[in-house]
Amino acid sequence: MSASLLELHDVSAGYGRTTVVNKLSFSVAEKDRLAIIGRNGVGKTTAMRAIMGLCSWCTGRILFEGQDISPLAPHERAMHGLGYVPQTRDIFPSLTVEENLVSGLKGRPRRAIDDAYAMFPRLAERRRLPGMQLSGGEQQMLSVARALLGRPRLLLLDEPLEGLAPLVRHDLLRAFHQMSQDIGITVIMVEQQVKEALAYSKTVMVMERGAAVHSGWSRDLLPDDQALERFVGLADH
Ligand SMILES: Nc1ncnc2c1ncn2[C@@H]1O[C@H](COP(=O)(O)OP(=O)(O)OP(=O)(O)O)[C@@H](O)[C@H]1O
Ligand SMILES: [Mg+2]
Repeated sequence: MSASLLELHDVSAGYGRTTVVNKLSFSVAEKDRLAIIGRNGVGKTTAMRAIMGLCSWCTGRILFEGQDISPLAPHERAMHGLGYVPQTRDIFPSLTVEENLVSGLKGRPRRAIDDAYAMFPRLAERRRLPGMQLSGGEQQMLSVARALLGRPRLLLLDEPLEGLAPLVRHDLLRAFHQMSQDIGITVIMVEQQVKEALAYSKTVMVMERGAAVHSGWSRDLLPDDQALERFVGLADH
């Protein structure tokens, strides 16, 4: 595989006195699609927030393209090419779809929005609707589309399939595939829809209690129901 785009070295992070991510180390190669899976509360979201510089405290080293980004503020990390779609879908509910997209342009020409509409045609049909009138899947599409307008080299997706019906998940996954193939974007996807995440991703990391307990190829873990049961409790899914 090619050189690492992102490397975490002994990264710990948490809230107040609580340590949630505990000496986490992993790397993501350029063009990889990494799935991070694990039970509720093991620290997946906190790890994403640590990468983006959004934790109240964080120690260890985070390298992006070989540069230590740990001292950088969140917006500086975004300028370096990190994109983030949080678990809560950060759209503006009272702004229209189009206005939400404009807010993600960050100086790029307005026609870049057409690329977003090409990837998510449903957004084009709903361009004049306020964000709050979109379905959950459409809100997720809008959140992803807006993050893509910043042209990130690495996109962090935190449970993009959460709460969505199978058909909508299918549409989103198709867009994610297109994004990986056409734009060549590197993706980290945190997901509880384990089978879908493993089918989409190339590599996988399993987290338990703030640390990585397994890393490998997604295609090896996908058919291994026993391991999946042990790691995430397949019965939960
Ligand atoms: N803002 C916060 N302040 C204090 N504790 C927090 C905060 N956010 C998360 N935690 C705690 O950190 C732990 C890990 O949370 P985190 O959101 O990283 O887990 P997760 O793996 O993403 O879980 P889920 O699968 O439910 O999204 C939990 O015990 C949670 O209660
Ligand atoms: Mg989470």
